[in-house]
Amino acid sequence: MSRRRRVYEGKAKVLYEGPEPGTLIQHFKDDATANNNQKHATIEGKGVLNNRISEFIFTKLNDIGVPTHFIRSINMREQLIREVEIIPCEVVVRNVAAGSLTKRLGIDEGTPLPRSIIEFYYKNDELGDPMVSEEHITAFGWATPQEIDDMMALALRINDFMAGLFLGIGIRLVDFKVEFGRLYEGDMVRVVLADEISPDSCRLWDMRTNDKLDKDRFRHDMGGLIEAYQEVARRLGILFENEPKRRGPTLVK
Ligand code: TMP
Repeated sequence: MSRRRRVYEGKAKVLYEGPEPGTLIQHFKDDATANNNQKHATIEGKGVLNNRISEFIFTKLNDIGVPTHFIRSINMREQLIREVEIIPCEVVVRNVAAGSLTKRLGIDEGTPLPRSIIEFYYKNDELGDPMVSEEHITAFGWATPQEIDDMMALALRINDFMAGLFLGIGIRLVDFKVEFGRLYEGDMVRVVLADEISPDSCRLWDMRTNDKLDKDRFRHDMGGLIEAYQEVARRLGILFENEPKRRGPTLVK
């Protein structure tokens, strides 16, 4: 037995060298952080749920032609992915006012936005991931204008797809964060979706009760995080423990 080479360790995930060149293994940990690392906890089972939920969404996005780094599931906590060069910009899409938007602009939480809004944040822990404009991104060379166009077009397709997916299971997609990477294939390079999409990186509210089914439960010490993530997985039809196997999302009328 030999030890796997750890390529990168983040707050909620570890990347290991993959079985073939150009591949990595993405491992989901149970760690949760908030407020730029000031708050930290280990929540048993979170990594397994996020791996399952993210894998489900990435597979569907691949199916509709959104390019992603995802190759296949390996086990409960790990997935095989393509190695990409991460673009150092977090892309947030918002449909309903919540979180930092409410604080920054004084808009009441829950106010529907006139249209989906895209924001960029510079990935830098020391600076607390500050919000930046397209001007900053191109001036400092973090991404080209073409790459910004690609990220925005993909982010909106992801938003449309996910908003519909969650609407069908009685959940409002309030906002979410995605990251993109450059995938090098021969002398070609293209922008693909990377990282994860899970209740850690989305705001998901129950349509009927407005209950929060996402990481805000941890950010605001509300408790019940695992139960909320399990509820999302259950409604998506991907939580098989203690229940008969189902094949897909359960339509909520
Ligand atoms: P915000 O309202 O705090 O700016 O967050 C917007 C969305 O982005 C929300 O769904 C949570 C997600 N997000 C992350 O996934 N990681 C982060 O570091 C931050 C700040 C937000």
